[in-house]
Amino acid sequence: MPPRTGAPGSPGASPIGVFDSGVGGLTVLRALIASLPGEDFLYLGDTARLPYGTKSAQTVARYSVRAAEALVKRGIKALVVACNTASASALPALRERFPELPVIGVIEPGARAACDASQSGRIAVLATEGTVRGGAYLDAILAIRPDAHVTQVAAQIFVALAEEGWSEGEAVDAVTERYLAHLDARIDTVVLGCTHFPLLAAAIARRVGPSRQVVDSAATTARAASEVLESRQLRNSPLRTGEVRLLATDSPERFARVGQRFLGSAIAERNVEAIDL
Ligand code: DGL
Repeated sequence: MPPRTGAPGSPGASPIGVFDSGVGGLTVLRALIASLPGEDFLYLGDTARLPYGTKSAQTVARYSVRAAEALVKRGIKALVVACNTASASALPALRERFPELPVIGVIEPGARAACDASQSGRIAVLATEGTVRGGAYLDAILAIRPDAHVTQVAAQIFVALAEEGWSEGEAVDAVTERYLAHLDARIDTVVLGCTHFPLLAAAIARRVGPSRQVVDSAATTARAASEVLESRQLRNSPLRTGEVRLLATDSPERFARVGQRFLGSAIAERNVEAIDL
């Protein structure tokens, strides 16, 4: 038997890198911690360059490679691209730059969650402008279910609302109405294709109605990460309690304050390290 992973000094003992344009990816980190409690995580939020959702695919790919380089330099064993916009634009560039590194994006797992949930095959994807423009969810859903019918809605203002901590209220209802009022009646599944949208899930679910399922990619991404680690024998011992380190390219104070809503638990400013890319 090869030595089981997780022994000090073995590849399994290194942290999993998680990267996002900012604090939104903490919703994915939360799911990763829940399903892989024995793993250490090194999270990088590129808050200095947020938002990625309005930028060109080339710029997002360039920023993503820079961020991944910072994590690889610190010794990660796998990379989870928690940002939907970066997953939509940068996975080929990341895999080319780091051919040995397992790289897991959120789009394919999100598409899988949508296809599992949908009976009618009519699926709406809510995402940033950049994710919608590239059509990555559309392609990923059609690859799993060629007969699917996908409607994409660019809902960039949801990002600002979630960062502001506005999950409910008049402004949220007005924006939700504007984005979702004209959904085809046959759509039975709505995918939250952006890290920030789970914070608005209750308002979105209310607007789309109880006959439609609202799904996101966090849990399925955690499952995909677990499978990749398992297949490469990179799992750390599940008997230990993992550690989380947080890096941000802009103010640790804001990262901690805004980020805790996304992570679902308190973040101390002193636990966020500021880095430059
Ligand atoms: N993290 C981004 C995403 O999931 C949303 C925030 C941004 O626009 O950078 O698409």
